[in-house]
Amino acid sequence: MKQYLKIDEWKVIEDQFHPAYNEITESIFSLGNGRMGQRGSFEETYTGKTLQGNYVAGVYYPDKTRVGWWKNGYPEYFAKVLNAANWNGLSIQIGGVEIDLHTSEIHTFYRELNMKEGYILRNCEITLSNGKRLAIESIRLNSMADDESGVISYSITPLNFTEDIQVKAFIDGDIKNKDSNYDEKFWDEVKVGSNFVWSKTKKTGFEVITAQQIEIKANGQKVDAKATSTTREKYSELAYTLSAKQGEKLTLIKYAVNISSENHPTASFEKIASDYLARISTKGFDKMLQEQATAWATKWAINDIIISGDASAQQGIRFNIFQMNQTYTGEDDRLNIGPKGFTGEKYGGSTYWDTEAYCIPFYLGTAPAKVSKNLLIYRWKQLDRAIENAGKLGFNKGAALYPMVTMNGEECHNEWEITFEEIHRNGAIAYAIMDYVNYTDDRKHLVEYGWEVLVGIARFWAQRVNWSEDKQKYVMLGVTGPNEYENNVNNNWYTNYIATWCLKYTLEVYAEIQQNYPAEAAAKITSTAFAKEEVAQFQHIIENMYFPRDEKQGIYLQQDGFLDKVIAPVDTITAERPINQKWSWDRILRSCYIKQADVLQGIYFFEDDFSLEELERNYNFYEPITVHESSLSPCVHSILAAKLGKEDKSYEFYTRAARLDLDDYNNDTEDGCHITSMAGTWMSIIKGFGGMRLKDHTLHFNPFLPKQWNEFSFKINFRANQLNIAVKKSGVEITNLAGPELTVFVHGEARKLTKA
Ligand code: BGC
Repeated sequence: MKQYLKIDEWKVIEDQFHPAYNEITESIFSLGNGRMGQRGSFEETYTGKTLQGNYVAGVYYPDKTRVGWWKNGYPEYFAKVLNAANWNGLSIQIGGVEIDLHTSEIHTFYRELNMKEGYILRNCEITLSNGKRLAIESIRLNSMADDESGVISYSITPLNFTEDIQVKAFIDGDIKNKDSNYDEKFWDEVKVGSNFVWSKTKKTGFEVITAQQIEIKANGQKVDAKATSTTREKYSELAYTLSAKQGEKLTLIKYAVNISSENHPTASFEKIASDYLARISTKGFDKMLQEQATAWATKWAINDIIISGDASAQQGIRFNIFQMNQTYTGEDDRLNIGPKGFTGEKYGGSTYWDTEAYCIPFYLGTAPAKVSKNLLIYRWKQLDRAIENAGKLGFNKGAALYPMVTMNGEECHNEWEITFEEIHRNGAIAYAIMDYVNYTDDRKHLVEYGWEVLVGIARFWAQRVNWSEDKQKYVMLGVTGPNEYENNVNNNWYTNYIATWCLKYTLEVYAEIQQNYPAEAAAKITSTAFAKEEVAQFQHIIENMYFPRDEKQGIYLQQDGFLDKVIAPVDTITAERPINQKWSWDRILRSCYIKQADVLQGIYFFEDDFSLEELERNYNFYEPITVHESSLSPCVHSILAAKLGKEDKSYEFYTRAARLDLDDYNNDTEDGCHITSMAGTWMSIIKGFGGMRLKDHTLHFNPFLPKQWNEFSFKINFRANQLNIAVKKSGVEITNLAGPELTVFVHGEARKLTKA
């Protein structure tokens, strides 16, 4: 745990340079606008610890997999979101010495991530090795209004000299992914010009042109500076000699664009890039900054959660909400949410079950329905690939197994215990359809998109189970549940439960679409070749599925034989944590320690199927043996603890989740931030402290106020309404901000909210 960043309700502040933590700060200070993003590295040369990372959404590379022993059915590649051309680049020399904070004496240093208005800012005063003392000020943003562009304003004020400064503003396309498996570079040059680098990915053939335009000002007045252009392979530079006077501020404004072949024809790439640059540079830096603030104000108007009396919690939740909005805006149904977003390279930047299980509820509550719908359509579009994927593993007749990790619908994870066994991900995809339809009431979605996905998933489960003569039940063998610290187990309770639920839900949807949309339903049932016998087959499995259980303790067993393990609470091994870094894999597998919610994930998803006593018994059994070594774990526990009235525990899990990256809780933030679990942090407040649930088209709230807070409030989009829920010491106030009259329940009592 590191607490070197300062607490502020709207900003993340580093008020003194911490070079040893620079890569952590770069992850935390990442910027993005859904279309492109980058780590918060310095613009000028920095020879200390750094990872320059620039990413263009949807642009990936199928890196060759690296496995010890090849197994049949392994995917050929591991898809990686590509580190792309660096458009920040500045190299600045004074008297032949390069500005580089690693080799300079630093007198003052301050940088902030301004979450309210969406930019990063840095001020520092340094002395170079030749004694030149200067002040640097920079502001950078990735524009929300013009989402293929970014801008930097970079100023230098000489403090003890008057002389020429050599400035090179460059674009560097000679970039390698840090996580490249064989140290390969994934980009080829197409062309370079005086202000652009145009590259193409090997194999996948994505093309991106990255271009810059420079403006120079002295004391705020535009200067007509002559640029010398130099190009070499994958590199383009504009060099200036600027006469700097002591005390006079020189400012370089760098406008940059990233135009991708995903969105534009390559035939007009150069023109599109130069027109885009002309348009944003005509707007100018100040206008772009102002538009950025406006775009963020619109987002905050519905996204913000206000906590009074706890600045650290306030900063934590805003950081999570900020990153979620930077990563995915819902504009494009080809895009999804990588576990690290635009903040790093780990996990390949691809789509996991995290999207459906964790992120969709966030976007349902904070954004128009279209945003979540686009995430569902992303999977619908990849259905053929999921069917192919199941086919590779020996399933047939339209059975679909969605990948654990994907960029384009193909599986690209290559550890057998995850690729072949962590099949519960299929269930989350079906669950998200139900979640979306129930929340938005867009029931037509079921016939338009939902049915096809559901029937593919249901068929997979129907083929994946087998009848056990011994048990006289259906069983599911050789799986990995959400708890990845167990592999190849039989009858993982969570997987059996969600599989059975998928079959039930598919049959419900089968009936509903025929009733509500008979003509469309008939066409879809025919096109999916769904046969009556499948109804009977699904029904038989639903009625005869096996669920491991311990009658004595009244708990569900994570899998067959779980109680053969030595069960000892996590606090007996405190010094040995995290176990994934301190223990052998063999020891982890044999131990009782659980990486993340597993049985409890199931009870959380399907809470109405279980009594409070059942929840309590299972929580009391599993929570003490859970190590939470996945960032997806604390939020589920926070919500369940809240439901059980364990308010302190709920709060403890919340703070851990909310400040996971800001405090580098798991010692891994330098690899990037835990973006998908940030949605879980939001859920801890809304579903945990706010106790919000949707039951039969009606919102229910069972809030409590953590004792560390004076009050908190959040807003929610629900169908045609927008509500503000304020939880105060004096009680719960709910205001209808937009939309028709609505009845909600607070602690079981109906409240009629008048029309807004
Ligand atoms: C978790 C998975 C998750 C993945 C990506 C892993 O550590 O165990 O459940 O999908 O991270 O966030």
